[in-house]
Amino acid sequence: MSGTHDSDASPAAGGNAPDAPAPAPATWRLRPETAQDVPAVRRIHLAAFETAGEADLVDALRRDPAAWLPGLSYVAGTPDGTLLAHALLTRCHIDDAPAVALAPCAVLPAYQQCGAGGAVIRALLEAAREAGERTAIVLGHPSYYPRFGFVPAATRFGILPPQPWPDEAFLALSLDGSPPPRGTVRYAAAFGID
Ligand SMILES: CC(C)(COP(=O)(O)OP(=O)(O)OC[C@H]1O[C@@H](n2cnc3c(N)ncnc32)[C@H](O)[C@@H]1OP(=O)(O)O)[C@@H](O)C(=O)NCCC(=O)NCCS
Repeated sequence: MSGTHDSDASPAAGGNAPDAPAPAPATWRLRPETAQDVPAVRRIHLAAFETAGEADLVDALRRDPAAWLPGLSYVAGTPDGTLLAHALLTRCHIDDAPAVALAPCAVLPAYQQCGAGGAVIRALLEAAREAGERTAIVLGHPSYYPRFGFVPAATRFGILPPQPWPDEAFLALSLDGSPPPRGTVRYAAAFGID
């Protein structure tokens, strides 16, 4: 499992909320969340999304031992310890084969578009690789997630969404380079996706 490590992603100027202080150039600290991080992780999601839905989802997933994968909830922080980004992988299945689902990901508005989201997602996916996970899936923006290696799940791998989601938005990544299992994805119960 990856320990704490620095990325070389430095924030660029711009992209900050108008009333927020601009982040000083910094090196993100990327690491698994700890119990002490839980309130800060919730604050990140409350700030990044319009509703409390994603924050509540993270808390519900953390309470579900069938979904939560210790070490696969990652945070990015500034050198002084302020947490600014979070990304989460939880257990899902492709038919009966275990896989991991990437969701949700959030960055404090003041730090968005500075590379923090990409840095924490890359560190998280590397941790999943090191943990022996084989396949990751995500429902997300077609212009964002391909930069991490995700490709359309259904057309490229025969991995079908649980609902009729657009092919270009339901994506999969082979973490170990082998062909992923084919089948239909079943998310953890907290997602409420049947
Ligand atoms: C989406 C999010 C996690 C990305 O993190 P980030 O640190 O802002 O993004 P990065 O700096 O790593 O990457 C910037 C790139 O992401 C793109 N991007 C950012 N948010 C995006 C979004 N919602 N949809 C599509 N692309 C997005 C930018 O256009 C930029 O693209 P470019 O590199 O081609 O110029 C972050 O902006 C966020 O928290 N947004 C609000 C919550 C959200 O929508 N979460 C994702 C769904 S779970």
